[in-house]
Amino acid sequence: MIYLETETYSAASRLAADRIAELVTQKPDCVLGLATGSTPVGAYENLIRRHEEGLDFSRITTFNLDEYVGVPKSDPNSYDFFMRKNLFDGIGLSAASTHIPDGMAADPEAECLRYEAALAAAGDMDLQLLGLGLNGHIGFNEPGTPLDSQTHCTPLTASTRTANARFFASLDAVPTQALTMGLGTILRAKAVLLVVCGESKRAILDAALSGPVTPDVPASVLQRHPSLTVIYTPEAPHSSK
Ligand code: GLP
Repeated sequence: MIYLETETYSAASRLAADRIAELVTQKPDCVLGLATGSTPVGAYENLIRRHEEGLDFSRITTFNLDEYVGVPKSDPNSYDFFMRKNLFDGIGLSAASTHIPDGMAADPEAECLRYEAALAAAGDMDLQLLGLGLNGHIGFNEPGTPLDSQTHCTPLTASTRTANARFFASLDAVPTQALTMGLGTILRAKAVLLVVCGESKRAILDAALSGPVTPDVPASVLQRHPSLTVIYTPEAPHSSK
């Protein structure tokens, strides 16, 4: 494992973006696994800047970790909308090269199987970017998720719904279910980049990296990944805009 600690969120975001930009430069047709939440927004801002300076993203393919069930793409709270706003539009990516589980699918189980098949057909992620939930979740793999799980439909815990309520009109408006890559899916990535920002996440990060590998702390499964980079800053995420 490579562990990097920075003083500021800006520095952590720059480091994360550098790692992604390096991969895109070396392998212009790479497959990127992407995350939502506040954490990666700074890295995405840096990538948009790199694109404006000439970095070509036109041949990459992306797969997002997860999506809420029942939130249409047109809703600003959908992860589809979030990705277009915070990254895809800024680096010139069209829907054809981006993949996000369809939270509006009539048959969620079939959608999960379709997503796994699309990932496998693309050769899985060259690099998976991850944030960390306060309860140790990655993607929406909540505590108790089997360590070998594949893309699946999951109920969201009270902790996760409360943490994400800041984006919604009220706690009641936060979806109760999501589709997410599984822990086994994430482990198939050739490299993993875990970015964790804020003192409030230090204890769960320590548990994930140094405690037992257990479904109780889903991110602990990353100890089994042969190419894990962790970037931690005590500063909480903020946008530079
Ligand atoms: C969300 C997402 C995760 C994200 C995590 C942390 O629920 N499903 O992919 O990493 O919670 O979010 P944040 O970066 O906003 O703290």
